[in-house]
Amino acid sequence: QGHRKESKTMKILVLGGAGYIGSHTVYELIDAGEEVVIIDNLETGHAEAVHPDAKFYKGDISDKSFLNEVFQKENIEAVIHFAALKAVGESVQKPLEYYRNNLNSLMNVIAGMREFGVKNLVFSSSCTVYGQADVLPVTEQTPRKQAESPYGNTKAMCEDIMRDFAKVESGMNLLALRYFNPIGAHPSALIGELPNGVPNNLIPFLTQTVAGIRPQLSVFGDDYNTPDGSPIRDYIDVVDLAKAHVVAIRRLLDGKNKANYEYFNIGTGNGLSVLGLIKAFEKATGEKVNYKIVGRRAGDIEKVWADTTLANQELGWKAEVPIEETLANAWKWQQALMKK
Ligand code: UD1
Repeated sequence: QGHRKESKTMKILVLGGAGYIGSHTVYELIDAGEEVVIIDNLETGHAEAVHPDAKFYKGDISDKSFLNEVFQKENIEAVIHFAALKAVGESVQKPLEYYRNNLNSLMNVIAGMREFGVKNLVFSSSCTVYGQADVLPVTEQTPRKQAESPYGNTKAMCEDIMRDFAKVESGMNLLALRYFNPIGAHPSALIGELPNGVPNNLIPFLTQTVAGIRPQLSVFGDDYNTPDGSPIRDYIDVVDLAKAHVVAIRRLLDGKNKANYEYFNIGTGNGLSVLGLIKAFEKATGEKVNYKIVGRRAGDIEKVWADTTLANQELGWKAEVPIEETLANAWKWQQALMKK
């Protein structure tokens, strides 16, 4: 507590608040009346995605002294940590960068929080920790499996770091949200997903194809053991996901958490195939998607979707946006980008 300044309002520090999920969460936090401070190094985030009412520091949280300076200056009561590398394929090529960046940054964050008396953290984890589960849908009790990529492994390792740290820091509250597949954009089309270069993920590749930026979408495999042969995922609207962070932070600030390390699945509870998603997009937008079935992508799992009972009951949160609306928003965002 010694370092804390006696200043006015308590603020929420959003690390990676200029990125895809971070920026949407900042919009929801500010809508909910919270004061927000953002740190982002703008490597994959974008200055235009920074909410005008948030205070912004450009910098890298792998730099511990920079991060601590922000803790020193601002009256932070909770942190949401999105700032990490997340490209699965790249992580296979650059394992050390992924381990160094994703693990060090989390450790800097929790050490800085302890030093400056900040008690509450919400962390971005992923359904990747389940791998190809034997039983679907996955609950929080489903055993984690060995990760397929260094990226996935950093998520599992970060969860373990939080769990072990929480054991000895009984006054601190750590909460991990295991996101399924976040897609879509803010309905205002002010913010959305903006990958640099060729997108790795399905929706930005799809919308760029429909926009004529890419000639064709490759569907990675139709020989999986699923009804139409293409892989199944649980696609969660990014605004619904952002709202899950608002309630998770509230849970910690209001002392409603049942343990000082908790984790929740954040998905819709519905599995949708790649081909099913393409059909839903065409129906929602009236646009035709030019796609071709190609071979499987290395490291892809066949199917995963969430049991969200725990988040529904404990966080009082539920995915609400219908998939057609999510896909229409993704397309609206792509069109807005074309006009910029
Ligand atoms: C992956 C990671 C997930 C991570 C997320 C972050 C795994 C198993 N999953 O999700 O943990 O949080 O990235 O980015 O490591 N697809 C195509 N054509 C494309 C792109 C994708 O058919 O051009 C298919 C994929 O085969 C997959 C689905 O679309 O079935 C979704 O792919 P993607 O958006 O890349 O997400 P995941 O691989 O599920």
